[in-house]
Amino acid sequence: MCGIVAHHGLVPALPALLDGLGRLEYRGYDSVGVALDPGDGGPPSVHRTAGRLPALVAALPADVHGATTGIGHTRWATHGAPVAANAHPHRDCSGRVALVHNGTIEDASRLRAELAVRGHGIVTEVDSELVAHRIEDALPAVPDLDAVVRAVAQAVDGLRGAWALAVLVAGVDGVVLARRSSPLLVGAGTDRHMAASDELGLGPEVTEAREVPDGHLVALADEVRWFDAQARPVPAPGAWSLGARSTAVDRGSAPDFTAKEIDEQPAATRRLLDGLLGRLHGGRLLGDLGLGTPERVRLVACGTSGHAAEVTARVLAVEGGIPARVVTASEPDLAVPEPGTLTVALSQSGETADVLAALDRWGDPVLAITNAPRSSLARRADAVLGLGCGPEVGVAATKTFTSQVVAGVAVALAVGARAGAVSASRLAQLESVLDGLPARLATTASLAAAPAAALADELADEPGVVFVSRGAGVPYAREGALKLEELTYRRVQAVPAGELKHGPIALLGPGTPVVVVNAEPRGRLAVGVSEITARGARAVLVGASEDATLPISSPAEEPPWGPLEAAVALQLFAREMTVRLGHEVDRPRNLAKSVTVE
Ligand code: F6R
Repeated sequence: MCGIVAHHGLVPALPALLDGLGRLEYRGYDSVGVALDPGDGGPPSVHRTAGRLPALVAALPADVHGATTGIGHTRWATHGAPVAANAHPHRDCSGRVALVHNGTIEDASRLRAELAVRGHGIVTEVDSELVAHRIEDALPAVPDLDAVVRAVAQAVDGLRGAWALAVLVAGVDGVVLARRSSPLLVGAGTDRHMAASDELGLGPEVTEAREVPDGHLVALADEVRWFDAQARPVPAPGAWSLGARSTAVDRGSAPDFTAKEIDEQPAATRRLLDGLLGRLHGGRLLGDLGLGTPERVRLVACGTSGHAAEVTARVLAVEGGIPARVVTASEPDLAVPEPGTLTVALSQSGETADVLAALDRWGDPVLAITNAPRSSLARRADAVLGLGCGPEVGVAATKTFTSQVVAGVAVALAVGARAGAVSASRLAQLESVLDGLPARLATTASLAAAPAAALADELADEPGVVFVSRGAGVPYAREGALKLEELTYRRVQAVPAGELKHGPIALLGPGTPVVVVNAEPRGRLAVGVSEITARGARAVLVGASEDATLPISSPAEEPPWGPLEAAVALQLFAREMTVRLGHEVDRPRNLAKSVTVE
């Protein structure tokens, strides 16, 4: 996974590298490092540390600040523990080569053994270091930039896996880049060329970007030159303008980004609905996106986005009568190609490797629902429905989830309307319920805030929490459980209430908290609640009824997308509990905002 950044220019590299790394931290924050070209023919100066950027900044010597060429990396550990020794940049034996890598090398143990036989002293557990040694083997004694391009091409030839690489070699003015599968962009500004895993890493001085084509290499120097996998020159790919961007993200007076982003949900869903309502009749939204009428829909996503996919699938089936199947992107094997299928990929980051890899399996048209309309997913998709939520910095998805549900529901209703399954009057009725959603989310936030804090006080010492619901409420029970688990590190289990009696009920003892997301059919859910309380467990109701522990604002009748408002109450509860436990709310351990490894 990880984020990489590279700089060559007329101005010092370090400010741009550190700035870019700060904005790429969402891709991983286990460790961080930079390498800078001293400019005197000496080896790249490498500095790295476990933990975050401030630790690196504190450790940097004064003499690196003037360097104008450098590379940087923020890591999410795959091979090797997240300690300074395993942090990037990695070096070869001689120290001539320094590289940063995003991706994974699959045949690492074979390569390690081969390199050891050839006498390379490998000092880390990290797959990326092996590439540095392979480059060392391929370099002539006195290389120029073209020789480095050839050496990198030779080093990656025959490797299996995914990589975005940036390589510095002693005495060579420039950075060589190589890419397979992992995303990598090259950007240009008036006084610099940069490369980064995504646009955020490029910084505001960079005004246009190009994507490194898969399998290709790039030499980043005073001019940027492009090469195919055999190091033969090729024309530059098309550029796009980055326009005026604000790369700064401010949390204002909020105690953390997660709190701010929870609060932004009414405004974010309002903006999105304003762009969608009115385009559902006759399925106009599909036409606007250049899509035909599908016979069936496959929804591909991971984690929280998978829960939004479950809601969307339900609306497609219940309202549109359209067969819809959710495929967990990391487990796509059983989804066979079927004619007339529209694949809808939901990913807030648009960079999730599992999602991108899953899409390679089918030839269907792809609609991306994403908060990153210029992401790898957006570039890969045939049509893009942007969420327009603004940056979501908290690693736990909050506002992107509610907006994904809104976007998914809109697509489902448009498909149903286009297929003639959702009548104009039914659509008008559902549009009006959707229209009231932002206000209900706002009311829920104020209704649930104090109860969520009180509940967090009561449950802070509980080792585990069970979540249940029925029908359309089940994805929200799963989402509430995931939010609590990833933020508080408590064990959770989410099951449809009817499944409790088939096993999970054994978890329940006196006082065990069971969060019940109230949803239709209420009668059947009531049975589940009595099964819980009969075991002495504590039922924590989330709903609009008077006996709810976490109250929410609901429409008069439950819509086919279920109690979306409950998501806000459960987010508030998870955040409050995290604060009580003293964990970092915005950056849970072991996670990253964008999961760019399969
Ligand atoms: C949990 C969370 C993750 C993501 C998952 C997919 O709060 O954010 O479960 O939903 O990693 O990420 P995207 O949506 O970027 O594909």
